Amino acid sequence: MTDALSIIAARITDAIAGAFGEQWAETDPIVRPSQNPKFGDYQANVAMSLGKKLGQNPRAVAEAIVARFETDGLCEKPEVAGPGFINIKLTHAFLAEAAQKLAGDPKLGVEPAETPQSIVVDYSSPNLAKEMHVGHLRSTIIGDAIVRVLEALGHEVVRQNHVGDWGTQFGMLIEHMIDSGAAEGETHIADLNEFYQAAKRRFDADAGFNERSRQRVVSLQGGDEQTLALWDKLVHESVRHADEVYTRLGVLLQDDDLQGESTYNDALPKVIEDLDAKNLLEESDGAKVVFPQGFIGKDDEPMPLIVQKSDGGYLYATTDLAAVRYRSDELDVDRIVYVTDARQKQHIAMMLAVARAAGFVRESVRTDHVTFGMVLGEDNKPFKTRAGGTVKLMDLLGDSARRAAAIVREKTPDLTDAQMAEVAEVVGIGAIKYADLSSDRNKDYVFSWQRMLALEGNTAPYMQYAYARVRSIFRKAGVDGPPAGAAVTVTEPAERALVLQLLQIGPTVRSVADNLEPHHLCGYLYDLAKAFSRFFESCPVIKAPDGATRDSRLLLCDTTARALELVLGLLGIKVLQRM
Ligand code: ARG
Repeated sequence: MTDALSIIAARITDAIAGAFGEQWAETDPIVRPSQNPKFGDYQANVAMSLGKKLGQNPRAVAEAIVARFETDGLCEKPEVAGPGFINIKLTHAFLAEAAQKLAGDPKLGVEPAETPQSIVVDYSSPNLAKEMHVGHLRSTIIGDAIVRVLEALGHEVVRQNHVGDWGTQFGMLIEHMIDSGAAEGETHIADLNEFYQAAKRRFDADAGFNERSRQRVVSLQGGDEQTLALWDKLVHESVRHADEVYTRLGVLLQDDDLQGESTYNDALPKVIEDLDAKNLLEESDGAKVVFPQGFIGKDDEPMPLIVQKSDGGYLYATTDLAAVRYRSDELDVDRIVYVTDARQKQHIAMMLAVARAAGFVRESVRTDHVTFGMVLGEDNKPFKTRAGGTVKLMDLLGDSARRAAAIVREKTPDLTDAQMAEVAEVVGIGAIKYADLSSDRNKDYVFSWQRMLALEGNTAPYMQYAYARVRSIFRKAGVDGPPAGAAVTVTEPAERALVLQLLQIGPTVRSVADNLEPHHLCGYLYDLAKAFSRFFESCPVIKAPDGATRDSRLLLCDTTARALELVLGLLGIKVLQRM
């Protein structure tokens, strides 16, 4: 690693080893960019934890670390502050050299991980035979960003769209498909929601239909060929709808990534058998259940995970056990990431506990559950249409592009119609994604057009605008890019602040790959855009005092634009040369 943060951490580690002996060098030094640049550029708080372990005064520990710290070319002598913080101010020369290296690096410091892993990301995963609605937005968008971050670090990602393509509702849907003519040849289902609702109405009201639907479920589960063919058609119709949404959203999911619940059907009996063989199965009211350790309900009783109903039917949990086993054994991955709403927290935790107890997951496999809150309307209630219905994703995306068009038309009236359409789509889709990704995912967030499309603040349009503004500097300067051989110099405070921000890309992306919290990328973008704004206000570029400074600043501008583009790209958001 060559970024400042890693270099500082390494030198602190060396200083600890020198001052207190090798055995303490393992202590994670935790170096952070300083919140207050007056104190320096970075701050380390290792002296507090180390002091505690050593039973020594943390300030004295900090002094001892500083005394051994090799500043050599990197920084001025670090200063100890408060209870034992170590403040570090980098030299101009180091910053200039680091910025120069960064500018010459196509990856801008986002280096491949030392040990690339193979990682399953299970995301989007809608229940089929219903049109995708706003509830599916978050898993799809957050999952996509996580996939992009992991891939940028050189990991091999196996995308798994664990769609709900199996279950008793398919009986009634298939019967309705036959009756409505949708089972014929090339017939498409135009509106999946209406189709589903019509089937449900008949299922509830018409005893004959109800009975046929139940029989159809039996045929489906019994593997009847004609029924399976009809089921297949229904699944494809649903997938076609989902694909339209994926394409318009610009997420990476492909048909190849579909690995629905139905793919695990044949593996389910063996799941039960093996749980039994491990003595994990118990009977409860005729159902087969497992009591994973550590799960106690409100009544102080152990909580069961039901894996087979009393009628022999399998459940969501059974399929998930088969899936996790497949991912560990067949796909042979190092890590599995689930992206679902927070209400599934307990389900996933219990299921994984059972999988671990049964040995369905290799011990070394890391599992993460990426949970998220709800999308709320401006009334703070679950987001609905004005009429109180579920918001279809496709309608939402169209709406966003239309609203974006109105804003862009006002700001930049001279775009052609074709340019306008492109800008509106990129801004509209970007705004929706960014609004979702920029809020701490565990919280609910309020869906507000006004906020997400604002040209100021932590929004996609602001970042896209910042990008286009940098590009316009080059147009005004009459050059394509920074001059070859431009050398970075860092003297003005605003230049320093910008460079420090640029150097944070690598560490930020690496930390997101670990904590899977994409809002840190948005926070990064916002800080970068603000640092650039300040730089641009206080450091003339085209009218720089001399040619060398102008070249240096042009290079910083270009690097900033590339950084914005790269990080927005990790969020699945596009940039525009003009907007
Ligand atoms: N189909 C589920 C739902 O809509 C989400 C599936 C998530 N993935 C999993 N392996 N359980 O709630």
